[in-house]
Amino acid sequence: METREHADPAAPSANAQGSGSRTACRGSPDHCSWVVRDPSGRLVGQVSIHSMDEEIGSGEIGYWLAPSGRGRGVGAAAVDAATRFAFDAVGLARIELFHAVENEPSCRLATRCGYLIEGTARQSFIYGDRLRHDEHLHARLASDDVATFELLG
Ligand SMILES: CC(C)(COP(=O)(O)OP(=O)(O)OC[C@H]1O[C@@H](n2cnc3c(N)ncnc32)[C@H](O)[C@@H]1OP(=O)(O)O)[C@@H](O)C(=O)NCCC(=O)NCCS
Repeated sequence: METREHADPAAPSANAQGSGSRTACRGSPDHCSWVVRDPSGRLVGQVSIHSMDEEIGSGEIGYWLAPSGRGRGVGAAAVDAATRFAFDAVGLARIELFHAVENEPSCRLATRCGYLIEGTARQSFIYGDRLRHDEHLHARLASDDVATFELLG
């Protein structure tokens, strides 16, 4: 995934900082990425909304956390914040999320962030192991009533 090098005050939250507006994404108007920091400020991952289609109002979200950043809800907080930014500031109506069916942590994160499972795409992506995997398709709509994800403790 692509990372923008400059911070943007329009970043969606303290947990997802980086290029936050489409005007900041020079040369790639269909893509916004943020670095993810944990509550202590340590850089632990990335979240991005890509394949944005202004006419259809759709996009796709991707994310990863270093092992040191996992298990604390930091990923869910970043995904929720980026999603809200894409709905509220960019104006998207629907964001899709794909993960390999065996990636249970990603499935839990998606569900926790209000991305409902819509189906299974068979043998739809080749991951780092160079094998084709079935994927769950999740999606969240701007009109879905989803509570803001709050970190505990
Ligand atoms: C997918 C991935 C980001 C998930 O990371 P994660 O740390 O499990 O996800 P979260 O940040 O949502 O943290 C979840 C954990 O935080 C805790 N948690 C849940 N809600 C919380 C809250 N409100 N406040 C604090 N902690 C919370 C729980 O222990 C939860 O674990 P559980 O899912 O076993 O219940 C991570 O496994 C990863 O980067 N994997 C490799 C790359 C990848 O698969 N990317 C996605 C490809 S589609």
